[in-house]
Amino acid sequence: MAAPVGPVDEQYQLVTGAGPEPCNIAEYERYAQYILPRNAWGYYASGSNDMITLRENREAFTRLRLMPRILVDVEKVNTHTTILGDKVSMPICLAPTAMQRMAHDDGECATARAASRHGTLMTLSSWSTIALEEVFEAAPKGLKWFQLYVYKDRAVTLDLIKRAEKAGYKALAITVDTPILGRREADLKNKFSLPVHLTMGNFAKKGGAHTAGTKSAGKEGSGLASYVASLIDKKLTWQDIAWVRKQTTMKIVVKGVLTADDALAAVRNGVDGIWVSNHGARQLDTTPATIEVLPEIVRAVAGRCEVYLDGGVSRGTDVLKAISLGARAVFVGRPVLWGLAHSGEEGVFKAIQLLREEFELAMRLSGSTSLADLKPNLVRTAFSMQSRL
Ligand code: FNR
Ligand code: LAC
Repeated sequence: MAAPVGPVDEQYQLVTGAGPEPCNIAEYERYAQYILPRNAWGYYASGSNDMITLRENREAFTRLRLMPRILVDVEKVNTHTTILGDKVSMPICLAPTAMQRMAHDDGECATARAASRHGTLMTLSSWSTIALEEVFEAAPKGLKWFQLYVYKDRAVTLDLIKRAEKAGYKALAITVDTPILGRREADLKNKFSLPVHLTMGNFAKKGGAHTAGTKSAGKEGSGLASYVASLIDKKLTWQDIAWVRKQTTMKIVVKGVLTADDALAAVRNGVDGIWVSNHGARQLDTTPATIEVLPEIVRAVAGRCEVYLDGGVSRGTDVLKAISLGARAVFVGRPVLWGLAHSGEEGVFKAIQLLREEFELAMRLSGSTSLADLKPNLVRTAFSMQSRL
């Protein structure tokens, strides 16, 4: 089979059934599957174990029914909001995903520029393939958060925190669901590691295991799993969150909350935001879909801090449902990677544009003109259907 020449390649259109311009996120995904090397596709796409939660993240959205209102003037819709006090054009933000240069050579810089053009928030991974300072400068006006992995070596962690603050990142999203990496079988089979020409950009100067730790090709299993097992702190507790808070003036968000009890603990510990996530179904398999646990977490938090959601968001109606059920904003992970794999900055911009247009359409068709109109009564769950009988 001839190598594809780009997004308009005929072979690609034949294989994926998608036109030259993908018309939804699923078509971007199919293109990415076609174009990406196995090592990268396996890493980006997979969930852990049997990928029950991966399917559930999507299916739970499809089980919810929307209850539109009629005869509302929807000529104008306003999707603007604020996140931790900063203005964004819409409640659709970019989640951190590691190693974006495997998808496109411009990697995280392309993503930053696309997010900034949309006037929305991008979160950069600790395991970016470009240094955090360079990513910030690629789109200096764009709102950015930094996702923090807490290393056993607190000097390494502190260096990341200080650099992120100095560069201009507004908040730290501390990932709290990854004491060790989930079991991703594609990565085990592929002996996943970062391609030789790429590095963990934030550690380029540090060298040694911190920079090259994923490159264990030829050794057993996933190179990333070994990296996490050797360097990331398994002993993380709420005391460490308090330690991070003392090191910085940036806002603190905990990423990876799935229960109301943990949300309450987060509130007690004074976080600024709670990010409901099962890590794109890549950690503990058979956890519930995030949209399923969102209502109980929102209820427990009772407005004491902002609550966000990620996991499986790939249609504008998903965004509508999550915001109606109380999320301040949603974050998307894989859709960004699929856009990036398609055509770099432009691909990310267009993938997000699709979601944005679908969301505005869903708002209009449901009789909503601003985010304040999005309330739980717009969504009918299986439970609320039963209670009406
Ligand atoms: C992630 N995610 C992630 N999370 C994090 O805190 N730090 C990271 O470096 C990464 N890296 C990463 C890589 C890849 C390839 C994926 C798919 C995911 C999780 C990410 O932030 C987010 O929680 C999920 O991706 C959301 O689910 P969807 O939108 O991908 O379904
Ligand atoms: C992952 C890590 C990087 O999900 O968070 O692969």
